Amino acid sequence: MSMVFTKRSAPYPTDCTFTPEDWNVLAQYWYPVARSEEVTDKPLALKLLDVELVVYRANSKPVVARDLCIHRGTPLSMGWVENDHIVCPYHGFSYASDGQCVSIPAHPGAKISPRLCLTVFPAVERYGLIWTTLTGEEEKIPPLPAWENEGYISFLAPVVDINGSAGRQVEGFLDVAHFAWVHTDTFADRNNAFVPSYKVTRTDGGLHTDYLSTVSNYPKGMKDPSPAGFKWLREYDIYSPLAARLIVHFPDDKLLWILNAASPISARKTRLFCPIAQNFDKELSIEDACAFNLKIFNEDREMVENQKPEELPLDLQAEAHIMADKTSIAYRKLLKEMGLGKHYTS
Ligand code: FES
Ligand SMILES: [Fe+2]
Repeated sequence: MSMVFTKRSAPYPTDCTFTPEDWNVLAQYWYPVARSEEVTDKPLALKLLDVELVVYRANSKPVVARDLCIHRGTPLSMGWVENDHIVCPYHGFSYASDGQCVSIPAHPGAKISPRLCLTVFPAVERYGLIWTTLTGEEEKIPPLPAWENEGYISFLAPVVDINGSAGRQVEGFLDVAHFAWVHTDTFADRNNAFVPSYKVTRTDGGLHTDYLSTVSNYPKGMKDPSPAGFKWLREYDIYSPLAARLIVHFPDDKLLWILNAASPISARKTRLFCPIAQNFDKELSIEDACAFNLKIFNEDREMVENQKPEELPLDLQAEAHIMADKTSIAYRKLLKEMGLGKHYTS
């Protein structure tokens, strides 16, 4: 299903932490901004690419708009939803879900100009998340066909707030040399640090990597039933700029799908959303699975929040690379080709 949305004016925000060049590229893409269940008829204040947003439900459908009343600039997230219209708390203007102002209580009955309209962004509900785009037209949400598919159990991992850039976070998700160092408490082993060589190929949306190694994906402390010498395949797909999908192939065709969708709140703040689906252990405790994933995310977060420079350097000369970094090198090249990283951000 593909929807085309009408063009809307791009509100390059004041005090933006991205350069205008980077912002213009990033704003064309789709990002998750909230979990479906937290979006109700109570307006929620959120931020994407430094743009303040209000997110709420009207007629049970999600609405994403600029969090700014066009009358006197009051955040609409301070208001409330009444009869599927969002009401500004300052002078009571109310707006329909297409953004049109439908009531000015100080002048009941007066004609309301069609120009009295909020900037409303597309909102799509997918994988338990609300996705939007600030300037994009065509719907571009990374595919996760396993989600709620027959034979699969699907759940959202806990949302993680990271004081770091989305580029660094996504690259960390693609990095195969850190397992033996960062994830020793969760699934990896210090004695299995070797990274066999692998190939990276270009795809329509980004990159694809098939990584074959002996690094097990079973949680530490759980008996690993994989046969001796079992080769674990990890399939990575990058959906540029800031989403990546991993399919881990367990023994006996058991599959674990993880979508790493980084939502860039600002150049230095990232909110990570991770829908997960697996075709085994369907009776698993979602609570345990969430705790396990949260532990892994926190191990990664500690690295991402401390890397310098905070922004992912797209100049390949800026940092040293090893053979194991093939995917990250290709990822940096790809982002550069998209027009990103021409300038460092604030
Ligand atoms: S500021 Fe919103 S109605 Fe006046
Ligand atoms: Fe990691």
